Amino acid sequence: MERIQAAIAKARAERQGTKDGAAPHPVLGQAVRHDITANWEALPRHALDPKTAERNRIVETGKGSESAAFDLMRTRTLKMMLENGWKRLAITSPTAGCGKSTVALNLGLSLTRRNDVSAILIEADMRRPSLADKLGIRRNYHIAEVLRGAESFADNACRIADRFAVATNEKAVPNSSDLLQAPQVGDVLRQIEATYAPTLTLFDMPPLLVNDDTIGFLSHVDCAMLVAAAEHTSIKEIDECEREIASHTNVLGVVLNKCKFSSGSYGYDYY
Ligand SMILES: Nc1ncnc2c1ncn2[C@@H]1O[C@H](COP(=O)(O)OP(=O)(O)OP(=O)(O)O)[C@@H](O)[C@H]1O
Ligand SMILES: [Mg+2]
Repeated sequence: MERIQAAIAKARAERQGTKDGAAPHPVLGQAVRHDITANWEALPRHALDPKTAERNRIVETGKGSESAAFDLMRTRTLKMMLENGWKRLAITSPTAGCGKSTVALNLGLSLTRRNDVSAILIEADMRRPSLADKLGIRRNYHIAEVLRGAESFADNACRIADRFAVATNEKAVPNSSDLLQAPQVGDVLRQIEATYAPTLTLFDMPPLLVNDDTIGFLSHVDCAMLVAAAEHTSIKEIDECEREIASHTNVLGVVLNKCKFSSGSYGYDYY
């Protein structure tokens, strides 16, 4: 725990010290262009196959009750984040399989259906990457190498909507906790934001109670959303996670996923 706390304090201090004027990253700095529109358009476009999307519960269109549930989540998320000046959102859960990655993708798609909003989703679950599979992406992208400072974001991300970029990881990364707490991560994130100026950046995180990856990374985000699974996650786990998140960053809210009986027919409730 001491190691994590030291890393968090260091990352937070670096972030506050260089909030507005990050020095160009030695690798990424060379690739940074200042025309935001051109930077977005240079990212390859990945066309979602409707069957893959349906199988993985990804709601592409803005129609139907499934979209309505995510649009409600989008509106609340945007309102709260913009009002507070928050730009980075971690999506986590107490334990595995609660629906983090599904929520992250659908929230990103819903956000960017609004043409005044752009978003980047970064796969930060280095132990069990799943976004490429869920999206049917066959190219081998390595966001881990981007966070390491070894490769450019532009070579490791694609757009699944005009202004929604997803940076995935081809395979599991050993020592993911060390990577997520490495000193260059803050600079890399600032460079990505400077290059694409996204309204929000979302991070698909590992579960909070399973390892220290998420806790160690929370100093890089402005807030976190907790995804709980109905009939699986206990109140005690939600409570424990809320307290843990609150000691590192802001708690945006809890999504109760996989509800059989919810106000939205897609099985989500948000509070
Ligand atoms: N609302 C829902 N109703 C039913 N099934 C769902 C719902 N949301 C997600 N799922 C399914 O639950 C499984 C786990 O979802 P997902 O991969 O998004 O969870 P995760 O929290 O990211 O898991 P991991 O901890 O392994 O990263 C997937 O098969 C997904 O399709
Ligand atoms: Mg996941």
